[in-house]
Amino acid sequence: MGNMNMGGSDPVPVSGDTTFKNALKIPETITSPSNMIAQAVQDTVMDGKNAKYIGYRSGLLGPTFRLQKGANFNIKFSNQLAEHTNIHWHGLVIPAEMDGHPDQMVMPNENFNYQFTVNQQAGTNWYHPHPHGLTGKQVTQGLAGFFIVESSEEKALNLPNGSYEVPLVIQDKRFNTDATIKYSPTMMEIMSGYMGDNILVNGTASPYLNVSTRFYRFRVLNGSSARIYNLALSNGANFYVIGADSGMLEKPESVNSLLLASGERVDILVDFTNIALNTEVYLENKTFTGMGTAQGTQAFKVMKFIVNKQETDTFKVPSSLISLAKLSNATKNRSFALTMDMANMSGGMHKINGKIYSATRIDETVAVGSTETWEFDNSTGDEPHPMHIHGVQFQVVSRTGGRNTILPQEKAWKDTVLVAPTEKVKVIVKFEQKGKFVFHCHNLEHEDDGMMLNFEVK
Ligand code: C2O
Ligand code: CU
Ligand code: CU
Repeated sequence: MGNMNMGGSDPVPVSGDTTFKNALKIPETITSPSNMIAQAVQDTVMDGKNAKYIGYRSGLLGPTFRLQKGANFNIKFSNQLAEHTNIHWHGLVIPAEMDGHPDQMVMPNENFNYQFTVNQQAGTNWYHPHPHGLTGKQVTQGLAGFFIVESSEEKALNLPNGSYEVPLVIQDKRFNTDATIKYSPTMMEIMSGYMGDNILVNGTASPYLNVSTRFYRFRVLNGSSARIYNLALSNGANFYVIGADSGMLEKPESVNSLLLASGERVDILVDFTNIALNTEVYLENKTFTGMGTAQGTQAFKVMKFIVNKQETDTFKVPSSLISLAKLSNATKNRSFALTMDMANMSGGMHKINGKIYSATRIDETVAVGSTETWEFDNSTGDEPHPMHIHGVQFQVVSRTGGRNTILPQEKAWKDTVLVAPTEKVKVIVKFEQKGKFVFHCHNLEHEDDGMMLNFEVK
């Protein structure tokens, strides 16, 4: 809401620790999962203070699951929180009963078995809770993790791996003086989304990572509620986009910066090979425009890389990656108007086709096996909405108005697409899983406010 934002600046400017003295934490990788607990945890995140958070492991966040295409995933999930929660596997195309729909809650002290076959191409997916009205709070307080799918096709590319392949989840948070996380969005923040004044990577405030003179592969997830990042390197170097959301690009795309909205992922290669030892390079956020008055007005650093080890690297950026079959022949087109209703300040301001979420209503019915185009129409809006569809992957077909183009980081299988003010973005989707799913804005305060609808595939 342009007219409601104070002076066209970030509602909560980034002002945290800029010493970059904390070693980047890397959540453990799990290749044969068996159980997971959502629970209260202790961690040291801010100012060296040990404090209480929630997580899926001993600290903030959850482990990184790394599974092969075709593998079976089977975990016993236990809810040891004081409120209901569940897990949504964002980017995975799995049966509706396993998707973590807001209907499917796991009550305190109860368990649920998430069991499915990983049946999709290599990509960077993630997981987080999905209780309607509480998603923003639970994710911000610590519940999120990576779910990486690997395949033999991807392995054959010999991309940087092991310690040269690092998942990075970027999140902004605010803290109380006892170092616990502050989450109580004001009405203004329900409009813009929750903004934090500290930028954390992998649950680490002001982080650094020592790197060698090599190529690195970073899988970057914007796990923030609302903040959009315009990622760039402080040395001005280009980097290569090789993947996005749940799949890879056909060929690497060299970029100087890229926008990443909440829920989106990007898989990038960064070249440190010719950098002099002891050079510091920052991953930073550059200012940007066109995303409403609450976003992009401030430049800040996200994390520091210290090039401190000489190694020889023979890696060459491949000229092609994978082949990507283009979806075509849509048999139905749907359009979704993204609007803001100032009459509903106390809840339900953000609407899709004039509606807010109702658990008991099916908004759209789709024939199983069919291909459709869905258009997200933000042409009258003044806030950005990263739109996410469950149970499918899609391809971006067009963007008209605003940026008027399909971006390099959108030329892969996607599940979340940023629809800026004045834009209409059309995606093509094939619906292969039967059942009831949701689609929504991944600005978590917009989602919790009701910017979400149900669709049923049958
Ligand atoms: Cu990552 Cu329905 O969300
Ligand atoms: Cu999802
Ligand atoms: Cu939104």
